[in-house]
Amino acid sequence: MSSSNRVATSDLTASDPGFGIYVHWPFCQAKCPYCDFNSHVVRAMDQSAYARALVRELEHMATLSDPQTVTSIFFGGGTPSLMEPATVETALAAIDHLWGINQRIEISLEANPTSVEAEKFRALAAMGVNRVSLGVQALNDKDLKFLGRLHSVDEALGAIELARTHFGRLSFDLIYARPEQTVEAWEAELTRALSFAVDHLSLYQLTIEEGTPFFDLHARGAFTVPDEDQATALYDATQSICADAGLTAYEVSNHAKAGAECRHNLTYWRYGDYVGVGPGAHGRITKDGVKRATVTERMPSKWLAAVEAQGHGLVDQETITRAQSAEEMMLMGLRLEEGVSLERYASLAGKPINPDRLIELSDDGLLQTNGDQLKATPAGRLVLNKLLGELLA
Ligand SMILES: C[S@@+](CC[C@H](N)C(=O)[O-])C[C@H]1O[C@@H](n2cnc3c(N)ncnc32)[C@H](O)[C@@H]1O
Ligand code: SF4
Repeated sequence: MSSSNRVATSDLTASDPGFGIYVHWPFCQAKCPYCDFNSHVVRAMDQSAYARALVRELEHMATLSDPQTVTSIFFGGGTPSLMEPATVETALAAIDHLWGINQRIEISLEANPTSVEAEKFRALAAMGVNRVSLGVQALNDKDLKFLGRLHSVDEALGAIELARTHFGRLSFDLIYARPEQTVEAWEAELTRALSFAVDHLSLYQLTIEEGTPFFDLHARGAFTVPDEDQATALYDATQSICADAGLTAYEVSNHAKAGAECRHNLTYWRYGDYVGVGPGAHGRITKDGVKRATVTERMPSKWLAAVEAQGHGLVDQETITRAQSAEEMMLMGLRLEEGVSLERYASLAGKPINPDRLIELSDDGLLQTNGDQLKATPAGRLVLNKLLGELLA
């Protein structure tokens, strides 16, 4: 990896949020019934053709960006642990060649915790992956089955153990607010999960997404999910148990020990630039002072054909005005515990936030200011979309 332009990732701050690369791997072994991510089950695919296409699209994206040192890379999906380690290596080498990778870079990869995938951990670590995010989802076999997962609790715990030996940093995901889940049962499960956690957990409330099998089943009454009061009680229990264990919520659904936050996601939420490659990937890239929103073709086969024909799978690249940037920054930043700088907002928007709205929403207990920082309160973070709608109206 190149030694030029090295910047310590620990130096990243809200005003210097870093520069990330997102690589989307859109394939899974099975489609989980709750999931509306861009993920597909295919019988066969040519992995080396995808590797070549990722390199070509990275080359194209490099022409759209100012020279930058990459501070984080995230292989997301889909199921990137299905990538051959050689494919990961090819993408990393291209990124290093095109931009330059800083020595303390964070390289994350999402993995499903089946034993087959865990066998790849050693090779992935050797390629430079230094942080893994495992989709454990539940520590209860009945619920894993309900969620359509291919692994058991024992397999997931085995994958966590193996991951701990290969990667310096490890996170895992759990989905809560499952049908009939009581606060007591979730507290016990989360406490058990914390005994296996290293320094980061992502805890998501089950969301019933339109277009998924769960959406139809739920609409037909095949199962119910916790009502608003129960969901709030589960959320509150999550916050206090994690805080007691020293993994505070630095974002709505993400908990970490101080200094163990996912730097790549922090770059998004602090509204830094990132390149997105692979099917359906989004990016925010600045060149010569102009920021663009990029998005690529979602369907893997169409994306591959487009990259082979024209060197990229972009279907849209829209210039973002400063006013739009200000809104996006607020949208992202209020997810974070640290909040956003009012001055940064005003300088992008060309005007400050409406002071009457600030007072109103603060009086309602949804916002708070601390000097220049504007934050959503825990109650505000629970109704973030509504809050943003009112703040930016
Ligand atoms: C890109 S996905 C999954 C990564 C990996 N393929 C896996 O399933 O383990 C990232 C995470 O989003 C969460 N997720 C996906 N759909 C969800 C839903 N409908 N409700 C709540 N969480 C969801 C899951 O915890 C999942 O691990
Ligand atoms: S949750 Fe993960 S494994 Fe399941 S379909 Fe979505 S991306 Fe694939």
